[in-house]
Amino acid sequence: MSALVQIRDLSVLYRGRGRRADKLALDGVSVSLGAGETLGLVGESGSGKSTLGNCVLGLVQPTHGTITFDGRDITHRTARERRALSTQVQAVFQDPYSSFNPHRTIEQTVGETLDSLPRMSRAERRARIVAMLERVGLDQSALTKFPAQFSGGQRQRIAIARALLPDPRLVVCDELVSALDLSVQAQVLNLLLELQRERGVAYLFITHDLAVVRHMSTRVAVLQHGQLVEEGTSAEVTEHPTQPYTRRLVAASLDADADLQRVRRATRKAVADSTRTSMGGGAGSDVALLGAFEQQAVAEATAQPTPRASIVSGALIQAKGGASTIETLVALRAAILEMASRTSATMTPPDLLTRLEGARADLCRAVIADGRTSEFLDLLRQLAAAIEDGDRVQARMIVNFLDSVEGDVSSVAHDRPETGSYKSRS
Ligand SMILES: Nc1ncnc2c1ncn2[C@@H]1O[C@H](COP(=O)(O)OP(=O)(O)OP(=O)(O)O)[C@@H](O)[C@H]1O
Ligand SMILES: [Mg+2]
Repeated sequence: MSALVQIRDLSVLYRGRGRRADKLALDGVSVSLGAGETLGLVGESGSGKSTLGNCVLGLVQPTHGTITFDGRDITHRTARERRALSTQVQAVFQDPYSSFNPHRTIEQTVGETLDSLPRMSRAERRARIVAMLERVGLDQSALTKFPAQFSGGQRQRIAIARALLPDPRLVVCDELVSALDLSVQAQVLNLLLELQRERGVAYLFITHDLAVVRHMSTRVAVLQHGQLVEEGTSAEVTEHPTQPYTRRLVAASLDADADLQRVRRATRKAVADSTRTSMGGGAGSDVALLGAFEQQAVAEATAQPTPRASIVSGALIQAKGGASTIETLVALRAAILEMASRTSATMTPPDLLTRLEGARADLCRAVIADGRTSEFLDLLRQLAAAIEDGDRVQARMIVNFLDSVEGDVSSVAHDRPETGSYKSRS
């Protein structure tokens, strides 16, 4: 069976102008991508990732080598071939804003990619656009709005809707989530995974973030100075890199903040697992999701100095010193809730969200009732560790324990019990 995209011995030489020297951006790269698969393309800045993506898109002309798509040579495509291909090969870039015309409505913007398909009636066209927008989490009211009226994450959803509307077989994603907040990143990445499962679309996924690539990709290719230095399954490359360069990339991605990287990965995985099992209703994934959200909220807050984060970290510092008050804990809970709901609002089924909120409230009651803040945080840490280790039994045990706490916030706040109120429900 032949690959969907086959790149053979591809080289790109950018000709220097004036005093600028020539630049060999790609040097004999061979790599392939199967239908419905994701090939992650990583490497440091300037290694040639975007150049490779742009060759596949026909935006950059290779100096040497060939690219075939579904067995057809598309290395040097004519304008006509390019139009024919445009419904099958689409792209989403880091900053969708720059690829949107600010004066065109979302209906016009998203509908652009239908132009190369056989003409359809206005009603049919609109119906397809609305269905696609809804699929990416936007409602019909978006049709008449303009790009500036949306957040970065929403604009990326619009870009994804536009790319997937003609049902392409390949989407080149170049640093697609790099500009987004982490909580929004997770939602967008999981939306892409769901769409892939539904439609069997293949992704050429370009990123400098190894955690993202591992989450998204079937296979990973590593570029260094325009050359392919390593290729393999996602787990092979990210866990057992054979090349010193790849090892450095992995180390650099971990060095940034090992704890944060770990919890971010855990959250992404928990959300993915939860959406994967939401049909069958796996309780274990709720547990993992809850733990991951809480842990990420705390970790992000300590790592990033935003106002919301300062509330959390302030509360944590106070809690560490043993001087925790009900007020700081209530602030801590409010901040965690706010951050966690940003993470989960559009991806998590509403009933699951309600359960999460309930469980979080229980957690906070436990803390307030006992004043045992460090124990609470410790349990969250254990929970995150259990999730990271894939130890569902342990994770479930911890959450069951936290879940079994009884008490009422308002009564507790006014009249603090002397003794602990952890009770087992069973
Ligand atoms: N149009 C161009 N003309 C000349 N040189 C270019 C051009 N585009 C890219 N380059 C050079 O080619 C090399 C590869 O660039 P490319 O954009 O493919 O890297 P990248 O891996 O995508 O980097 P980043 O992670 O920063 O996006 C770089 O040295 C870059 O400066
Ligand atoms: Mg690039």
